[in-house]
Amino acid sequence: MEQKWWHKSVVYQIYPRSFMDSNGDGIGDIQGIISKLDYLEKLGIDVIWLSPVYQSPMDDNGYDISDYQDIAKEFGTMADMDELLEEAGTRGIKIIMDLVVNHSSDEHKWFLEAKKSVDNHYRDYYIWREGKRDEDGNRIPPKDLGSAFGGSTWEYDETTDMYYFHIFSKKQPDLNWENETLRQEIYDMMNWWLEKGIGGFRMDVIDLIGKEVDKGIKENGPRLHDLIKEMHESSFGNYDVLTVGETWGASPASATRYSDPDRKELSMIFQFEHMVLDWHSVHGKWKPVGLDFIRLKRVMSKWQTDLTKGWNSLFWNNHDLPRIVSRWGNDGDHRETSAKMFAILLHMMKGTPYIYQGEEIGMTNVKFSRLEDYNDIEIHGTYKDKVLRDEELTHEEFMRGVYQNGRDNARTPMQWNNQEHAGFTTGNPWLQVNENYEQINVKEALCDKRSIFYTYQKLIELRKNSKYSDTIIYGDYTLLYRNHPEVFAYTRADENYKLLVVANFTDTFSEIVIPDEFINGSEIVISTDKELSVRESIRLDPYESFVLGLEIT
Ligand code: NOJ
Repeated sequence: MEQKWWHKSVVYQIYPRSFMDSNGDGIGDIQGIISKLDYLEKLGIDVIWLSPVYQSPMDDNGYDISDYQDIAKEFGTMADMDELLEEAGTRGIKIIMDLVVNHSSDEHKWFLEAKKSVDNHYRDYYIWREGKRDEDGNRIPPKDLGSAFGGSTWEYDETTDMYYFHIFSKKQPDLNWENETLRQEIYDMMNWWLEKGIGGFRMDVIDLIGKEVDKGIKENGPRLHDLIKEMHESSFGNYDVLTVGETWGASPASATRYSDPDRKELSMIFQFEHMVLDWHSVHGKWKPVGLDFIRLKRVMSKWQTDLTKGWNSLFWNNHDLPRIVSRWGNDGDHRETSAKMFAILLHMMKGTPYIYQGEEIGMTNVKFSRLEDYNDIEIHGTYKDKVLRDEELTHEEFMRGVYQNGRDNARTPMQWNNQEHAGFTTGNPWLQVNENYEQINVKEALCDKRSIFYTYQKLIELRKNSKYSDTIIYGDYTLLYRNHPEVFAYTRADENYKLLVVANFTDTFSEIVIPDEFINGSEIVISTDKELSVRESIRLDPYESFVLGLEIT
C-alpha cells in the first residue's frame, strides 16, 4: 500500500463551542483554540478536525450552515480562521474542516431564494414535493422517511404550497445532489477552502447524499459512489489531503469502496458498527441495552482484518457520542485506569486514531436533573416524539437514555483548571460545566506524570516516533482469546517486531496466559501498571492493560 501522511497521524477533534472561550461570551471561539495550540502540540497530535465554525443560526450548533465561506460571529472572523491555520501550521498541525453538504441551513441564501417560487434559479437545489391528498381532499405530506431529530422529514411551505425534505431538523433542508449546478457550487467552495491550505475534510453524513426520496432510500443510494468520485475529481483529488466520511451504515465491503485508493474516493470513513452494539433495536440510543463484550471484540476485529484495501479510522468518542469512560468503563473508582485501557486498546490498532476533546483527561458523562438544562436539538426533538406524542418511553426512561447516550455528554465545556467554569470562560457557559471539574481538568493532568494525558502522549509518540511505528501503523492484526469474557487481547506484527496488547475490559480481576514467545525477551512498551512483571500467567487488576514488544530475530 502506498504510504500516506495521514496513515501515521493522530487527529484531535475540537467542538469549538465547548473548547475555549476567549472573549467571555460563554461560547468557545477560534481565538480560544489558538490559545490552546501549545497544549495540543504537547499532546503530540498532528491534525485537528474542527467541527463547523461557519456562519450558522446554530439550530444544530453549526451543523446548519448559512454561509460556507464565512465564520459565525460567536466563533470569530475569517481573519481568526486564517490565523488559526497559520498558527497550527507553524506547530506542524493541519486543520480538517467539517463539510456539511447533505443539507444547508434554511437561512442559507440558496434556500431563501428557493422558497420564493417554483421557478426560482435555486429551487432545484433542494428537494420539493407536492404531497398527497387525503380522503377529504386536504393536502398531506409525502411518505415520511423518519427525521433524525423527531417529527416528519417533510415540512410544508406555504408560499409555493409544497413540502421540502429534511432528514435532520426543519431548519436543515436537504440539498438536492441530482442538481449539477449545486454540485459545482459545492466543489468550488471546497476548492476555495483547499486553496487556503486546509488539511482536508470530515464529511458529515456523506452516505446520505445519494438519497432517492421517492423510493424511500436515504443511506447508500445507488448514485452515492459516483457522486463521491466526482467530488474527488473536482476538488480534493487534486490536493494531498485527508478526507474522512461519516457513514453510519457502512460495512467493511462498503468501506473498501470508499477508501480503496484505486477507486479515488475518500481516505477513510468513520464506521459505527462497534458504537451501536448497546443500542436498543427499536429505541436506539434512548434505551441502552447491555454491551455484549464478545461481540464487541468480534466487530472491532472484523474491521481490523477485513478492510485490506482501504483504511480504518479508530475512535471511541465524538461530539455525538457519550464519553467512553462513562459508557463502557468506570467513571468512579477506576476512571483513570479504565480511560487508559481504552486509549491503549484503540491506539495500538491499525488505522488513524481520533481523540475527542477531553478524552485525553478522562472527562465523563454529565447528569443534569432537568430536561431544560440540556441544549441538544436531538434530545428535545426525540423527547417530543417518544415521550410526549407516542408515549413509548416514560420521562424517567428517556432521561436514563439521555444520561447514558445523549450528545450533550460530550459537549459540556472543556475542563481546563479548577477555577470557576473550569477555566473555559469568564462569562456564563452556554452549557453547564460538569461538576467534577475540580478533580478532572487539564491543569491537574499536566502536573501528574501518571495521568491519562501522558498515556495518550506516549501512545502518540509510539505511533509516530518509535521503533514500533511501522508495526503499529501497518502490522498485521490477530485477535487472541476471542471468547475470554474479560480480556481483549491481540497482536500486531510485521517482519521486525511483534506487539502483544492485553486489556482487562472489566472492573473485576482477571487472568491471562501470556503466549510463550513473549515470556522471555519482550519489553513492556506501555502499561497502566508500573509494577508489571511478565510471567506465564498474569493476574490483571480491574482495567489493567499493557503492551509487550518483541524483536523478531
Ligand atoms: C452528523 C453530525 O455529527 C451531527 O452532530 C449532526 O447533528 C448531523 N450530522 C447533522 O448534520
